[in-house]
Amino acid sequence: MKSKLYSAAVFALATLLFTSVWAQEAPAVDRTATGGAQTLNDIMRRQEQLKIDDSFRSENLGNPANAAPISGQLGTLGGRSDPDIYRAIRYNEIDPSTQVRGPATGVLIQDGGMPWYKLREGPVITYGGGALLAIIALLAVFYFVRGRIMIDGGPVGTKIERFKAIERFGHWLLAGSFITLGLTGLITLMGRSFLIPVMGPEVFATLAAGSKWLHNNIAWAFMLGLVLTFFMWVAHNIPSKLDWQWLKEGGGIFTKAHPHAKKFNAGQKIVFWTVMVLGVSVSLSGLSLLFPFEMPMFAKTFGIINSVLGTGLPTVLTPHEEMQYANIWHSIMAFVMMVAIIAHIYIGSVGMEGAFDAMGNGQVDLEWARQHHDLWVAEVEAKQGKGDSP
Ligand code: HEM
Repeated sequence: MKSKLYSAAVFALATLLFTSVWAQEAPAVDRTATGGAQTLNDIMRRQEQLKIDDSFRSENLGNPANAAPISGQLGTLGGRSDPDIYRAIRYNEIDPSTQVRGPATGVLIQDGGMPWYKLREGPVITYGGGALLAIIALLAVFYFVRGRIMIDGGPVGTKIERFKAIERFGHWLLAGSFITLGLTGLITLMGRSFLIPVMGPEVFATLAAGSKWLHNNIAWAFMLGLVLTFFMWVAHNIPSKLDWQWLKEGGGIFTKAHPHAKKFNAGQKIVFWTVMVLGVSVSLSGLSLLFPFEMPMFAKTFGIINSVLGTGLPTVLTPHEEMQYANIWHSIMAFVMMVAIIAHIYIGSVGMEGAFDAMGNGQVDLEWARQHHDLWVAEVEAKQGKGDSP
């Protein structure tokens, strides 16, 4: 009897102790050292079946204020998730296998999505769009200050062949495809922000789908145009001492002098190489986007940059990060090209009297040619003098 009483007293005391400890509020835990994840202290308290401060879980689940009522509604296990597993998936600490086939299907949670999305919707649109508006404004000011560049003394009426039909075909293939790609690319990038409020989601959906189709398919014409014009014009675009002189004289734009130039002057060589180098870069990143996960190129490129410049760019990238870099790079390259090309279109059309004919019918006024490309005219005339075609 005495021992029974004794056991009952011990049991009651233990229960009281246990429930009072269990009910004990979990102490505030400093999780800064673990980046917000649970600490050793949490684990030990859980092993001892003590109450723990599980805000690191409930906060990760979303709204901490809702976490308790949700688990209440759904029952003991229904509202519980397992953040440790999700965290392991997220930080690539386990290697999940899925039944879905295809590249990168093992990536279940992709951590870089939001930073990429914010960069794309924020600075890319703001600075890219801003640069386009700025170059248009600058050209408008230039037009009003300098006016159209005219042929001194006017055209003489005699024509000289500047570009053959195949050259003009290459140019317009490149130009037509680039303009289409530029417009459809801008619709894809900015349409959600600027077009949906104007035309509504239904019309925009059709426009966006059409833009995407055009963008993906016209890209091939651009690449072909790039290759054609490269081989036709590269020989005329090798930099020379003459270009330096042309640049020092500012191309004669403000002095109204006419610095010497062969077939292409320094300004045109800059346009040519900008189009070629950036065109290749925009094409490669575009191909990487067109064939998702099949053409990763940024980790390798970063590795090369690091070894040359000693930078610390990341060289281990998840498949999705590769795509995100490709996407941002593609947009940046495209914007730089668009800025250069808007200036090119200006000078090849309204900006300079007689220039458009070169790509229009291929024949330019002899006086225009003498003023802007004197050494080229001399070469052509020398050849003609020998009976060759220009
Ligand atoms: C409506 C749009 C365009 C017009 C009116 C235009 C006009 C011209 C003209 C007149 C020339 C010959 C200049 C000369 O005789 O020396 C030329 C050359 C050239 N164009 Fe265009 N172009 C346009 C769009 C483009 C686009 C979109 C690209 C590339 C993406 C491009 C790339 C080139 C290149 C690389 C050259 C040779 C280098 C140079 O003259 O600057 N053009 N263009």
